[in-house]
Amino acid sequence: MTRTLQKVARIIVKAARALEIEPETLMKPGSLTVVGTGIQFIGQLTLEAHAHIKQAEKVLFLVSEPLTADWIRDVNPTAESLYPYYQQGKSRMIAYVEMIERILCELRKGLRVCAVFYGHPGVFVYPSHETIKQARLEGYSAKMLPGISAEDCLYADLGIDPASTGCQSFEATDFLIHKRKFDTGCSLILWQIGCIGDLTFSLEPYDSRGLHVLAEYLCQYYDATHPVIIYEAAEYPIFDPTIEHILLAKLPKHQ
Ligand SMILES: C[S@@+](CC[C@H](N)C(=O)[O-])C[C@H]1O[C@@H](n2cnc3c(N)ncnc32)[C@H](O)[C@@H]1O
Repeated sequence: MTRTLQKVARIIVKAARALEIEPETLMKPGSLTVVGTGIQFIGQLTLEAHAHIKQAEKVLFLVSEPLTADWIRDVNPTAESLYPYYQQGKSRMIAYVEMIERILCELRKGLRVCAVFYGHPGVFVYPSHETIKQARLEGYSAKMLPGISAEDCLYADLGIDPASTGCQSFEATDFLIHKRKFDTGCSLILWQIGCIGDLTFSLEPYDSRGLHVLAEYLCQYYDATHPVIIYEAAEYPIFDPTIEHILLAKLPKHQ
């Protein structure tokens, strides 16, 4: 079904070009721009993202800390948080589907909608990509602007240049389930190690059993004394990033 609709959309765009009609003029009223806030409070938000948040007729946002949420509401009083879709023990995927529907609902009213996610809005953010795909299928103009992701902060804080050995990035659960192929001579970044194997949302710390499984798996490829860095970028400029150097064997004990 999706493929057929995409084919139809491509044919319409081709036909419009042949008739010298700008494809955009065939679009429905209403547009979607997906932007990111960066990781650190406000300082990492681009001028372009700021302009879109300000000028939108409806803003929907999902951010990780309260000051950014307040700032977005100040910039645009229409702003509405998508966070309430998360609930203790609820499947994150169900929450994402509900968020997508909420954003599309405003778009279908013909509004200029801005959806805001923290970090880079296209890095490890399922609802941003899916909303854009669906919006385009329904004939709306939709685009994403880049932002600063946790990985960008990591390069700066840890002084790692991906050019030196190359760099591989995986979502930790996906890495384990699919036994993703990787190169041990090249940096390996694993995301979401805090919630390995758990697809629900939780405000409480996740079970650490996943870290045991991950460490065991990695020990098949690296020595138990292989250096590991647990990294967390600072969310506020007054704080330093958390950078913990441990040995691979100690990973399961990490809190
Ligand atoms: C849903 S993803 C969102 C990523 C975000 N869009 C970005 O661009 O970085 C959440 C994961 O991003 C990573 N992350 C988020 N904030 C972080 C931070 N301050 N420092 C390090 N990693 C972070 C963690 O792996 C976390 O589990």
